[in-house]
Amino acid sequence: MKTLVTGCAGFIGSHLVDKLLEQGYEVIGIDCFTDYYPREIKEANKNLSLKKKALSKKYHKNAKFELIEGDILNMDKFPDVDYVFHLAAQAGVRASWSKSFEIYTRNNIEATQKLLEFYKDREIKKFVYASSSSVYGDA
Ligand SMILES: NC(=O)c1ccc[n+]([C@@H]2O[C@H](COP(=O)([O-])OP(=O)(O)OC[C@H]3O[C@@H](n4cnc5c(N)ncnc54)[C@H](O)[C@@H]3O)[C@@H](O)[C@H]2O)c1
Repeated sequence: MKTLVTGCAGFIGSHLVDKLLEQGYEVIGIDCFTDYYPREIKEANKNLSLKKKALSKKYHKNAKFELIEGDILNMDKFPDVDYVFHLAAQAGVRASWSKSFEIYTRNNIEATQKLLEFYKDREIKKFVYASSSSVYGDA
């Protein structure tokens, strides 16, 4: 079974990749390493919660893992997979207003729309989207 994990170098995405590989899935990860927090942390995520687990070595060189480094919004197509786990996002609630608003609409709304448009007519089993905490409000 093939899976796509967007935001694969992020906190949640990297742990999901870990788990999927452990369970024998093929994983294609997409991440553009935004500067929301340092790339080194994301590299460590990507190389798998690394220092903690023996499994991490497997992930690093795992033939079942492929990283596509790129921005979803700059891609014309996405891989054919069975499952899509969409975790790429601009996370965080406080900064989601004012000057940074555009970053949020871009990486959360536009990127999600682009992926949904691409996969809506394709034979995938499931599209899983972890809604951003940035949608929280009074309602
Ligand atoms: N971590 C939490 O406790 C938590 C809680 C609630 C909801 N969430 C939501 O889950 C999602 C993932 O959270 P996280 O903590 O893993 O965030 P994260 O910042 O660690 O990871 C997100 C990843 O997405 C990548 N990314 C962002 N925009 C991209 C784009 N346009 N193209 C390609 N890659 C892109 C970033 O480079 C980053 O590595 C977010 O929507 C977040 O709001 C997280």
